[in-house]
Amino acid sequence: MRTIDWDYEKNNIIMIDQTLLPKEYKLIECATVDSLCEAIQSLRVRGAPALGAAGGFGVALSAFRSKASSLGALLDEVETAGKKIILTRPTAVNLSWGVKRVIRAVEEANNTKEARMFALDEAKAIADEDVKKNMELGEHGASLLEDGDTVMTHCNAGRLACVDWGTALGVIRSARAQGKDIKVISCETRPLNQGSRITTWELLEDKIPVTLITDSMSGAVMRKGMVDKVIVGADRITQDAVFNKIGTYTHSVIAKEHEIPFYVAAPVSTFDFERFEDEIEIELRKPEELKFFGTHQIAPLEVEVYNPAFDATPMENVTAIITENGIFYPPFLIDEVK
Ligand code: MRU
Repeated sequence: MRTIDWDYEKNNIIMIDQTLLPKEYKLIECATVDSLCEAIQSLRVRGAPALGAAGGFGVALSAFRSKASSLGALLDEVETAGKKIILTRPTAVNLSWGVKRVIRAVEEANNTKEARMFALDEAKAIADEDVKKNMELGEHGASLLEDGDTVMTHCNAGRLACVDWGTALGVIRSARAQGKDIKVISCETRPLNQGSRITTWELLEDKIPVTLITDSMSGAVMRKGMVDKVIVGADRITQDAVFNKIGTYTHSVIAKEHEIPFYVAAPVSTFDFERFEDEIEIELRKPEELKFFGTHQIAPLEVEVYNPAFDATPMENVTAIITENGIFYPPFLIDEVK
């Protein structure tokens, strides 16, 4: 099962509920745009490329649920739904990219029936292309890995963050498919533990050796020589920085200090080269994520909390960016990437 897909019998979105992993593998359906927005906000579906597909399928869902009898009214509805979906998470550029791409397809329709069909075809194309691009990206990235390498990663940039295969973990999958013995060190990724809950789960499913560490151990393991390369995903790449899960910047600084290559693996849809770091909104999440571990209280309820979901890593800390179009090195010129 892909991370996110379309149920053609019910015309609903179907997805793996990632909040339940690793204890439970469960598929859930979203029959309304509101339930999709809830699923995105609570991270049932997450990861930049998967959010691109969620945005696309969300617009299709709004077209299918619409009772509008005229094309103009349907267009208004999908545009309103698209705005609502985009607002759920501001940092990953893929979400708005997926929404806008499907809305553009709907605008080509001549009637409401065609509009629904165009929306679904385009959303499905985003999902299919994501898998293909990740596999291409994986092939390029695998050339950077040597037999016997240990790769450190942060958060989950695997098949569950995408439609399938993965970006950072896709590179590792491709290298292993080429017969290279690659091991992984996964940072747990506080506060929502995408590393310990999801990355380790999906790697173990594929029998890829993985060792779990706390985020604060990354300096120690790099200093001990236990890491050959770092590979992370990205939520948005501006001209001057890579936005990814909070903690990524810290790993980049330590990797630079120890002369360990720091690679970013991301599809071209993650690039936002018209903008700079200062212009990007970093999502601030609820204080409860730090005050509780599940239902267990781990901080005074009255304590002040700062909980950004992402950070920005300046380009000077990035050794190379791996995309479906190849591997790019500084100064990362947009014309070369696209
Ligand atoms: O908050 P999340 O879990 O959506 O954050 C995900 C990440 O930061 C990933 O590293 C990023 O989206 C790249 S996924 C291929």
